[in-house]
Amino acid sequence: MKPYYLTTPIYYVNDKPHIGHAYTTIAADVLARWKRMNDVPVFFLTGTDEHGSKIAQAAGEKGQTPQIYADNLMAEFRSLWVHLNIANDDFIRTTETRHTRGVQVAFKKLFDQGDIYKGYYEDWYCVSCESFWLGSDLKDNKCPDCGRAVEKLKEESYFFKLSKYAPALLDHYHRNPLFLSPKYRAQEIINFVTGGLKDISVSRLKESWGVPVPMDAAHSTYVWFDALLNYITALGYGSEANESALTTAWPCDVHIVGKEIMRFHAVIWPAMLMALGLELPKKIFAHGWWTREGEKMSKSKGNIAVPKEITDEYGVDGLRYFLMREIPFGADGDFSGSAIRVRYNAELANDLGNLFSRTLTLIVKHFAGTLNVAPAGALLRPMADAHAKVVKGYEEIAIQDVLEALRSVVSEANRYLDQKAPWTLIKTDRIETEKVLAEVWLVLRWLAAGFYPFMPATAEKMWALLGETIILSKQGGAVLSAPQLGNPTLIKVE
Ligand code: ME8
Ligand code: MG
Repeated sequence: MKPYYLTTPIYYVNDKPHIGHAYTTIAADVLARWKRMNDVPVFFLTGTDEHGSKIAQAAGEKGQTPQIYADNLMAEFRSLWVHLNIANDDFIRTTETRHTRGVQVAFKKLFDQGDIYKGYYEDWYCVSCESFWLGSDLKDNKCPDCGRAVEKLKEESYFFKLSKYAPALLDHYHRNPLFLSPKYRAQEIINFVTGGLKDISVSRLKESWGVPVPMDAAHSTYVWFDALLNYITALGYGSEANESALTTAWPCDVHIVGKEIMRFHAVIWPAMLMALGLELPKKIFAHGWWTREGEKMSKSKGNIAVPKEITDEYGVDGLRYFLMREIPFGADGDFSGSAIRVRYNAELANDLGNLFSRTLTLIVKHFAGTLNVAPAGALLRPMADAHAKVVKGYEEIAIQDVLEALRSVVSEANRYLDQKAPWTLIKTDRIETEKVLAEVWLVLRWLAAGFYPFMPATAEKMWALLGETIILSKQGGAVLSAPQLGNPTLIKVE
């Protein structure tokens, strides 16, 4: 069975990971866990982009070789993903042989078939962004992306015939309206391609920190040509012995990227795949950008939000929840200490936490942890309504909508509990109290499943305390779609 294949960008190892990188990776993890809990096999890939002058330069400043430098930063990314409970299935580094070999195979194939040719490049180049710009692209003679100085470069270069693929790309966008997501980002790409594409330079003459061009070792492969291929080299592309993963997992279901690299993924990458004779990914989803207290995060400003500092205060699940909850997936947002504090206290500690703890406390205190009554389903309706929204939210990768739906059930359950007031009811009607608690128990069980992709550790803990034994990470989806219990069940909480 073809796994659901999803990817994050591979991150540059020129600097330490921050919440921007964590954001994309957590979002992908949420989607991956949702699929897995619905018993869908998943292949979730992330990794690091380790070549190019930016990294060579950063290494030089530290007096390190690029490889040592990359090793150290790669380890920071890797350990952050472990810390954030990211369950990726593979981690690819562009310095691994399985990758460099695939890049060379792809380069050679495109050269042999005439899709790559040798010529001269002359244009403005931004070292920091690894991007060439036309004079007309520049803003005040500076890089339009990062605002840094650019330099004029003329050199011998290999070119990829991107121009040739413009009509096929436009055709693909039109036939596949969900290919570029969210929808509001598609038009910009379509306009760009409609304006005509130029062939792009895919090699660098003076760059030694890169994958050598197979038939001309004086050149290194341009870092984006190298990097994009990670999505197939991780599946064994270029290794005759080991292409079976490519056969089963490709095409990718979704490449999740930040909006600033949408063009690379929406234009260059599909054209490369067409040239390679491979299917195109089903979807490219570009999310928005986080600022910090209203400002762009940057090392020079010293205002980078460091994930570890935030999890020290709010826990891993607090950060995961906040990032998914605060802004619609696709839109830009702002990270501030006060915003996370408010959400954490109001939504997690108060709304969800108290619902859970007061219900369990009552079950333990008055019923010794055991309810002998099956829930009648007083709250089935809100759960069913929310379930439909959860499914739709995941389908559209509208991750915040999923949380909205879950939160509506939290509110319903709190309302129900306040109205029934079992803490008072117990004094007059023990049987009715038991029924009320069973109803809320059913909702809590549903909520543990619902929140699992967002807050896996918290949900697993809730799950265990609720006395559940089935495997949440694989069967939680079934609980969400059919929360009703069959025959009277013995509810045993801890
Ligand atoms: O672009 N807000 O790597 P990169 C939201 N190596 N997301 C952010 C963010 C922010 N402030 N900052 C970073 C590269 N990101 C290439 C990718 S893929 C074949 C090659 C996230 O280290 C977001 O996902 O600059 C963005 O696209 C990515 O990190 C850029 O990471
Ligand atoms: Mg970047």
